[in-house]
Amino acid sequence: MPRTIIEPFRIKSVEPIRRTTRAQREQLLKAAHYNLFLLPADDVLIDLLTDSGTGAMSTHQWAAIMEGDESYAGSRSFERFRSSVQNIFGYSHVIPTHQGRAAERILFSVMCKKGDVVPNNTHFDTTRANVEYVGAEAVDLVIPEGRQPSVKHPFKGNMDVAALDALIKKTGRERVPLVMLTVTNNSGGGQPVSMENVKAVSALCRSHHIPLYFDACRFAENAYFIKLREPGYENKSPKEIAQEMFSYGDGCTMSAKKDGMANIGGFLCTNDDALAQQEKNLLILTEGYTTYGGLAGRDLEAIAVGVQEALQPDYLEYRLASTAYLGNHIADAGVPIVQPPGGHAIYIDARAFLPHIPPDHFPAVALANELYLEGGIRSVEIGTLMFREAAKMDLVRLAIPRRVYTQSHIDYTVEIILEVWKNREKIQGMKLTYEAPFLRHFTARLEPARIRVSRDYSRKKGLTVRRKLNSL
Ligand code: F0G
Repeated sequence: MPRTIIEPFRIKSVEPIRRTTRAQREQLLKAAHYNLFLLPADDVLIDLLTDSGTGAMSTHQWAAIMEGDESYAGSRSFERFRSSVQNIFGYSHVIPTHQGRAAERILFSVMCKKGDVVPNNTHFDTTRANVEYVGAEAVDLVIPEGRQPSVKHPFKGNMDVAALDALIKKTGRERVPLVMLTVTNNSGGGQPVSMENVKAVSALCRSHHIPLYFDACRFAENAYFIKLREPGYENKSPKEIAQEMFSYGDGCTMSAKKDGMANIGGFLCTNDDALAQQEKNLLILTEGYTTYGGLAGRDLEAIAVGVQEALQPDYLEYRLASTAYLGNHIADAGVPIVQPPGGHAIYIDARAFLPHIPPDHFPAVALANELYLEGGIRSVEIGTLMFREAAKMDLVRLAIPRRVYTQSHIDYTVEIILEVWKNREKIQGMKLTYEAPFLRHFTARLEPARIRVSRDYSRKKGLTVRRKLNSL
């Protein structure tokens, strides 16, 4: 068997990307106030800002798009969408939405009220915001290993079942309207949840008569991690694994912009008839009629094909291998990353990469900006700029769009990261010049700041670079 895992597709349509010079990037970054969200995408060479809605569709998806039935009610495209989703997810009601957060908003509006508690392994930020919007509390209960970047564990996205049991007992079953499991655990490094853990969480929920919902955005990647790492699943297909996983739950929310392989779309599933009726009423109020939910018929067609393609073994083998390839190449050279590599992204630990930059000088923003300056690569900060003082880590996420970049793009990315790693001591921290009252990372303005490292901080970190930095 040849060792090389190749891209299991060939390219039929290409989209040029534009090189810029370092001098141009310096100007562009300054004009964007040192916030990569404010850069025009045309000035980015390799865009790893997100894997959401940025994937390449297949010839089958484009062909299906031409078959889109744009009838307002009862379209053929909805029937195809529903039957494809049900074939994998198995739930009796499938409610289309324009993207994942719309499904979240409807689910929590119907199921939660003020004073309720919603446990999850780790809430994604829109999920947390939608739980809190209805006055409920969002609690993250990932296993302790899931909070430590350098600790290796095959299923670092697992829920801490004992902590969940204790929380339910303490809160009282009537104040826990549902439990959620995010597969894979995006905010925790794209780490998978094992089938054993899904079963244990499901059994606990059933014993308390609490419904279990999946945040299923990256369900196919999670299924392949189970195939690779969990005994007893090596000979099962990713689809069989996904079907089994969903059978332990009562419904799900889904952003089809991830493992739906589409550029827009999502859905909400449930087995509960009464709940589905309320959800559909709310859907009609703000999203659209029940057979399109804010999407065009052609979008439903793209998703119907996409969810099935996401489960193809060749694709998943390549997908996880190419993400790990990036992670392992930089980690082998000493770059600190969240270990082991996740499914859709590599997360660099910026506090460990730049120990001379304290968190209030935004080390992950400084590093993300340096990757852009060095090689035109756009990544995203997940740290102090995003979460303020609540940030437990400062990470740079390199999210890989599906079927978009080839191995040479990834090799180039590795080279740029290693070049920045070599010169890390020269990187300066940042300071804010403007911030919005909430979700400040999207619009913040910053500028490079001379670092005044406190004596305490440098002693704690054992810094040797302090003097050099202060003389920059
Ligand atoms: N849940 C998870 C785990 C997600 O990663 C996202 C989106 C959502 C829900 C919301 O879905 O964007 O369709 O409304 N994550 C994107 C990201 C934005 O970059 O990780 P949406």
